[in-house]
Amino acid sequence: MGTFKKSKKVKNSGGKVHLRFTGKTLALLFEKRSTRTRCAFETAFGEEGGHPVFLSTQDIQLGVKESLEDTARVLGRMFTAIQFRGFKQSAVETLAKYSGIPVFNGLTDDYHPTQVLADIQTLEENFGDSWGKKLCFVGDGRNNVARSLMVICSKLGINFSVITPGSLNPDKVLLDKCKPFAEATGAKITVTSDLAEVKGADALYTDVWASMGEEAKKEERARLLKPFQVNQALMDKTGRKDCIFLHCLPAVKGEEVTKDVIDGPQSRAWDEAENRKHTIKAIMLAAINGTAD
Ligand code: CP
Ligand code: NVA
Repeated sequence: MGTFKKSKKVKNSGGKVHLRFTGKTLALLFEKRSTRTRCAFETAFGEEGGHPVFLSTQDIQLGVKESLEDTARVLGRMFTAIQFRGFKQSAVETLAKYSGIPVFNGLTDDYHPTQVLADIQTLEENFGDSWGKKLCFVGDGRNNVARSLMVICSKLGINFSVITPGSLNPDKVLLDKCKPFAEATGAKITVTSDLAEVKGADALYTDVWASMGEEAKKEERARLLKPFQVNQALMDKTGRKDCIFLHCLPAVKGEEVTKDVIDGPQSRAWDEAENRKHTIKAIMLAAINGTAD
């Protein structure tokens, strides 16, 4: 036996067993790799008595012999709900259109909505509330995580800054989409390449420099993003000793974040990973059972 001790912080049901997905089935469709998202959906659904079925696109007919529309029609007749992780945002929308059952977006090139629910839970666990807090995303400002953060922060009144080189700015279509939400909640949205923007931040967030599917851009990104690494000097630049560090994971330690920061006392990346499961369970309960309780 090793010396591993389960963290006391892990939130569990205190021994209570709930079986709110008994008799229900979940198709887990994956074009891209995953650890957290797959495990969160699979364990959250299975613990509640549901039957999750992992379907890698390496194994099923989709994309080889069968269209997405036809796959959606068939899954819709056999499953209670679908989770999709893949490349095109249009794919998740097509699945929803043709399956007729709830479809959860487990990450596309454009968005990572289930991730940012866990991020907000982590922020709220630390500060008691998220409204009016300042969250700075430092890195590839046009990636799926940065984009979903902008949407959720605008909707929840969280001041959100994207700190990124100009060539990686989020696109205007997304900014225009978020503007009315931000106006309604009072959230301030800032896009800048100035690292001094971290001053006063409650949380610094980063993500890999090259997302899945962008492997060919790795060197170019490293050149562009090296000055935007989250290290202790940048954490200190916030002027806040209680500033927390967030990362969706997986992380490339030594690139977008230094090991001392992600493994250090200000990091909440591991709570954030655990919170994927709790928030995913809540959205499945809301969509499938009509209640998040
Ligand atoms: N954060 C996240 O989505 O992790 P995985 O790629 O491991 O699912
Ligand atoms: N931006 C990253 C997120 C991984 C969870 C990617 O798409 O690879």
